[in-house]
Amino acid sequence: MKILLLGSSGLLGSDCRDVLKDEHQVIAPSRSELDIISWDAAIDSLHKISPNVIINCAAYTDVNGCEKDDYRIKKVNIEGPRNFAQGSARYNCRMIHISSDYVFSGQKGIPQPYFEDDPVEPVSAYGRCKVESEVAVKENAPSYIIIRTGWLYGKNGNDFIDALLVKAMKSPRKTIKVVDDQVGSPTWSYRLALQIKTLLKTDLKGTFHATSEGYCSRYEFAQHVFEQLNIKTPIKPCKLSDFPQQAKRPHNCILENRLLKTLGYNIMADWKEDVNEYLEKYGKDLIKEAKANK
Ligand SMILES: NC(=O)c1ccc[n+]([C@@H]2O[C@H](COP(=O)([O-])OP(=O)(O)OC[C@H]3O[C@@H](n4cnc5c(N)ncnc54)[C@H](OP(=O)(O)O)[C@@H]3O)[C@@H](O)[C@H]2O)c1
Repeated sequence: MKILLLGSSGLLGSDCRDVLKDEHQVIAPSRSELDIISWDAAIDSLHKISPNVIINCAAYTDVNGCEKDDYRIKKVNIEGPRNFAQGSARYNCRMIHISSDYVFSGQKGIPQPYFEDDPVEPVSAYGRCKVESEVAVKENAPSYIIIRTGWLYGKNGNDFIDALLVKAMKSPRKTIKVVDDQVGSPTWSYRLALQIKTLLKTDLKGTFHATSEGYCSRYEFAQHVFEQLNIKTPIKPCKLSDFPQQAKRPHNCILENRLLKTLGYNIMADWKEDVNEYLEKYGKDLIKEAKANK
């Protein structure tokens, strides 16, 4: 299959490129080679490449930054996906687009998960633009898969684990405060890339949740990472309200992969198993990088 992969320098995109390249022809232009906000560039690339599938991992993902950069979220997170969704109709190809747990309000009682058909009700500009991106894809791409995921970590990311490790390496004895009133499912970008690979073999269409199995609070996630890496830096629970930020965060980010399970395609693993495997593989390098970045 010929795949046009957008956002391949990012956390999820880089794993998609690595996972897909053995079985597929993956064309993965950088942002400077193909800026998704340009309709002309989108159409030109589809004309030249003629892919069977577009996978859109490109986005502006700074949740706080989205609150103050209306122009960028409209261009990158809404018009970008719309350009390729419309292009997919013209060039008769399939589109896989990545969305987020932040499309929901997070008001459901924990541990009730969100299902694919629950009403969306974002509480942040980032969440609102991800909803609009979903609408743009649904309305324009004749053959689409929207994947909602959350709490990604991976070897090429600037993620929660990296941020924790930088703090711990900088001041090993200083207590780190981590929120215990936001829960979700830490999801390895590599596992999600494998899930995308399985979906390429199907002719499914629609919106699917794809996060790890099980859930935890950010505090429990941090505790688990430090236990696995034998890091003794103390961690203390706190509340989201202790860290006033520009963007509101949903408290409950738990998604159920109901459709993938019902249809027999769910390959997402338990969050702890994946975190353990990830840290076993990359833990030493992550600590080395955190020491260099402190
Ligand atoms: N990270 C999470 O926890 C999380 C959770 C839920 C959903 N998601 C969704 O998953 C998807 C992937 O997220 P991620 O964390 O992998 O993102 P990321 O690491 O921030 O990477 C974003 C990618 O988009 C590219 N990009 C940005 N603007 C572009 C433009 N105008 N034209 C072309 N490329 C552009 C970036 O290129 P440069 O490197 O050149 O900037 C980068 O490759 C996104 O849709 C995100 O909303 C992520």
